Amino acid sequence: MHIVHISVEMAPIAKVGGLGDVVTSLSRAVQDLNHNVDIILPKYDCLNLSNVKDLGFHRSYSWGGTEIKVWFGKVEGLSVYFLEPQNGLFWKGCIYGCNNDGERFGFFCHAALEFLLQSGFHPDVIHCHDWSSAPVAWLFKENYTHYGLSKARIVFTIHNLEFGAPLIGKAMQYADKATTVSPTYSREVSGNPVIAPHLYKFHGILNGIDPDIWDPFNDKFLPVSYTSENVVEGKKAAKEALQQRVGLKRADLPLIGIITRLTHQKGIHLIKHAIWRALDRGSQVVLLGSAPDPRIQNDFVNLASQLHSTHHDRARLCLTYDEPLSHLIYAASDFILVPSIFEPCGLTQLTAMRYGSIPIVRKTGGLYDTVFDVEHDKERAQSQGLVPNGFNFEGADAAGVDYAVNRAISAWYESRDWFNTLCKVVMEQDWSWNRPALDYLELYHAARK
Ligand code: ADP
Ligand code: GLC
Repeated sequence: MHIVHISVEMAPIAKVGGLGDVVTSLSRAVQDLNHNVDIILPKYDCLNLSNVKDLGFHRSYSWGGTEIKVWFGKVEGLSVYFLEPQNGLFWKGCIYGCNNDGERFGFFCHAALEFLLQSGFHPDVIHCHDWSSAPVAWLFKENYTHYGLSKARIVFTIHNLEFGAPLIGKAMQYADKATTVSPTYSREVSGNPVIAPHLYKFHGILNGIDPDIWDPFNDKFLPVSYTSENVVEGKKAAKEALQQRVGLKRADLPLIGIITRLTHQKGIHLIKHAIWRALDRGSQVVLLGSAPDPRIQNDFVNLASQLHSTHHDRARLCLTYDEPLSHLIYAASDFILVPSIFEPCGLTQLTAMRYGSIPIVRKTGGLYDTVFDVEHDKERAQSQGLVPNGFNFEGADAAGVDYAVNRAISAWYESRDWFNTLCKVVMEQDWSWNRPALDYLELYHAARK
């Protein structure tokens, strides 16, 4: 099968959040199953080009009154076509954040379809994502089905319904199949007016992570390679390296890591509360996060300076986006906290487990589907062929998050043997695309019927 993703993010060259990770890792998994996958991405001036191999000029064409230069290169083994309209829509130094993002991405979607048509592509599936490439669904159905692209079917994935609901609603109407990124989130949003009329073609397929991209045995950002067999030594070395890097000193205490966009979705008030609670309970905390909203960023700058005076030896807030540092934190932490208010899937808890860090999560969306509480979810885990792998809580108040954080830290102090075994067990769970990629292939086939 030939699948073309039209996306505005792709890890690691144009990543803002999990959407970028998923486009790359799902594509790699499907390509590994011997299907033909191409990706079409805007050629932003801020692309991280060091991760593009063999980049070269491919062709140029005219559309929408402007010349569009097309570049081709390989990213993580995937074929990527970069569209560079000469009207400068993607020469803004950023992916999102211009006041005409809707217009920029609408133009890109149309230009991408035109590129497929003019280049004689005959894909079986065109896969688009979120509000930003939602227009592909209706532009295709309204303008392109009677041309050479006639056999293509549209698959649309919702990574986050919070943004651009009207565009998502329109794409839901036109797509042949639609998905979201976990079964629980699909149920949570099933009553939403933009989803409800289309439930017959809407499926929740859990995201995976790419075990080669996230691999503590082969990770250039870690001081020591490790697998589940030497997880204790590997994580000890990572903790020392992280502590040295950010200036923390207490190797004898547990470490809670938080890696996140700092937005309402991620449970800002719970994050703040949990930091203080974890410190009270004898833990260290490292947060890596950046806030698109300057007021929230400022709030965390203030928190950082408060913590600097009260807990200089045990807490560090790194208020930036830093991919290499994120790898070190996943490896160095004993726990990764994800107290989201809602979470369509969430990748950080999956990556944490791959690095032997125990997730502490709020029971919502994909966090509910992937984290099973060591005390309360034995049966639920068993029904999925798993053993419990973390700590979770309900509610969106201080008491909820306290309950999980307290239990996690106490468990660490009570038995290091038990805790080390848990780290080993979670590392061996499979949160890759092995299963979900097959679910997508089945969906692609169904879309073509
Ligand atoms: P979302 O897409 O809602 O932000 P996900 O959990 O799906 O949440 O994906 C977030 C991705 O972004 C993960 O790969 C995580 O490691 C990464 N990430 C988030 N914040 C940062 C940061 N400040 N620095 C580096 N990576 C980050
Ligand atoms: C969105 C969601 C996140 C999900 C990611 C990838 O950004 O917020 O939960 O994991 O997309 O699908």
